[in-house]
Amino acid sequence: MCGIVGYTGPREAFPVILKGLKRLEYRGYDSAGVALLNQDHLNVYKKKGKVADLEEAIIGKDLQANIGIGHTRWATHGEPSDRNAHPHTSANGSLAMIHNGIIENYAQIKSELLNKGYSFKSDTDTEVLINFIEYIQSNNDCSLEEALRIALKRVTGAYCILLIEKDNPDTIIAARKGSPLVIGIGKGRDEHFLASDASPIIEYTKEVVYVNDYELAIVKPGELILKNLGNEKVTPYVTKLDMELAAIEKGGYDHFMLKEIFEQPSTIYDCLRGRLDAAAGTITMSGVEQNIEQLKNANRIMIVACGTSWHAGLVAEYIFEELCRIPVEVEYASEFRYRNPIVNKGDVIIAISQSGETADTLVALEKAKENGAFIFGIVNVVGSSISRISHAGAYTHAGPEIGVASTKAFTGQLAVIMMMALKIAIEKGSITPEYYKKLLLELQDVPEKVDAILKNAEELQVIADKYKDASDFLFLGRGYNFPVALEGALKLKEISYIHAEGYPAAEMKHGPIALVTSQLPVVFVATKDSYHEKIVSNMQEIKARRGKIISIITDGDTVSPTLSDDWFSIPMADELIAPILSVIPLQLLSYYTGIAKGIDVDKPRNLAKSVTVE
Ligand code: M6R
Repeated sequence: MCGIVGYTGPREAFPVILKGLKRLEYRGYDSAGVALLNQDHLNVYKKKGKVADLEEAIIGKDLQANIGIGHTRWATHGEPSDRNAHPHTSANGSLAMIHNGIIENYAQIKSELLNKGYSFKSDTDTEVLINFIEYIQSNNDCSLEEALRIALKRVTGAYCILLIEKDNPDTIIAARKGSPLVIGIGKGRDEHFLASDASPIIEYTKEVVYVNDYELAIVKPGELILKNLGNEKVTPYVTKLDMELAAIEKGGYDHFMLKEIFEQPSTIYDCLRGRLDAAAGTITMSGVEQNIEQLKNANRIMIVACGTSWHAGLVAEYIFEELCRIPVEVEYASEFRYRNPIVNKGDVIIAISQSGETADTLVALEKAKENGAFIFGIVNVVGSSISRISHAGAYTHAGPEIGVASTKAFTGQLAVIMMMALKIAIEKGSITPEYYKKLLLELQDVPEKVDAILKNAEELQVIADKYKDASDFLFLGRGYNFPVALEGALKLKEISYIHAEGYPAAEMKHGPIALVTSQLPVVFVATKDSYHEKIVSNMQEIKARRGKIISIITDGDTVSPTLSDDWFSIPMADELIAPILSVIPLQLLSYYTGIAKGIDVDKPRNLAKSVTVE
């Protein structure tokens, strides 16, 4: 939520910031803005809408500067508008600030400032914070850095902020708690790039520092100082980015979402590569190996996640219970963090997150960690906050996922879950070596099978065109395909704005069947598995009520097509592995439906890629 960029160095700052904002736009696109500092001249330009709207609005303006900050907003406090757009300036006009996060006690601070004669131009918590900093600075006659430190000790909530000051025209001061910040160190060390993630930085440098919570960064062209809130210096830990520029570009596809769907044969292959050796019968996962006693002897596994990652967690529940015989509970992170969950010694918490920055998941883990829980992170973004607070973990290696709808990250999560469960199960002796070997071979074949599915993508475009005007959809599945039905419904909702619900197919009789009319498309995820006959009976029930049936079936199934209005067939796979395949047609169905309805599928309304506020 919200993307932030900053630059200080010998280059023109504006082009660096503008390009960075375009790369970060997936984090929010309600408004965009920049603040550019040229000696003591502070120019602030901001506009409701996308970065392209800002770009158009500033044609002919003074953009000269070697230092600047930029922001792309996902609105929290105050509607999307020019006046609520960032950067915000202090009342005396000397400071400009951008912010990603939420200042929870802003109302109290605001009323204090109102009593002291301050007035506000926006409805944002950010404008309150910058004026609070200005107030502290002028009343204590202290440096901006000191004023910021004092202010941050008072605020509650989450933030990543970048601040610039007219009196210090080469310095950006940054601070983070809960919202991400990465600083790129320019090749000659004479310039620095600051951003919410590495995508705006990658083409300039691969040397980066991830700033931690409760740290302040004082950044000048040739100097990067990190301090904690107690004003003690912290040694910056420089890491190398393992990412190529091509990975964050569209590569000839119309949309990132389509590119990411079509990348899945190679992203799943990359996830398995170096880990799975089906011929040798081995899985190499150091995070699992180093903690195998803890994992195989776990009394219980608790999975904490949100959205699509939560759906991956539901698939994991079925897989871990089946293969490892360990009880599993799957929790919405937002619920888990606010109740008083019972986490016992011997429990393992698995966090699943594409971004590794989802606020609810992150805070849930911090709390569980404080209570002594062992945390295993399944994360896509290397170096992200969740990966750093986990005791151990496994990356999904899906590469940067830019489209707001999660696609390749989901299949990567399922591949990691499958390898992890197999490794624990064989160590524990809860599956036979023969079944283990069979599943290894099947997993190895997944990239090829995904490729085969993608070759028939146009069939789903035809189906999407046929049903694009429906007002509602029902998605039904059983067993391993039940979470896939949920994921299909979520994908369709966010990308096409069609109301969709996912249900266990049998549960449909307990309520949702009342919705079935000849106008309702019902998508059955009905691949060949141990529940197949049962789900075919559910199809009969829908057909008897004249619902429109779209089914995802297995090659060679001759029964389901007789009951379906439309169907899409995928290669045969063991039922534990089938979700990695059966979700692909649902991703494509959503994509083509969104496109048919003229929706910006990479940036659907109200959403943001990385939900860094609760
Ligand atoms: O980065 P995370 O996996 O933690 O994100 C969780 C959800 O916000 C995310 O999956 C969201 O539901 C996607 N928009 C789904 O496509």
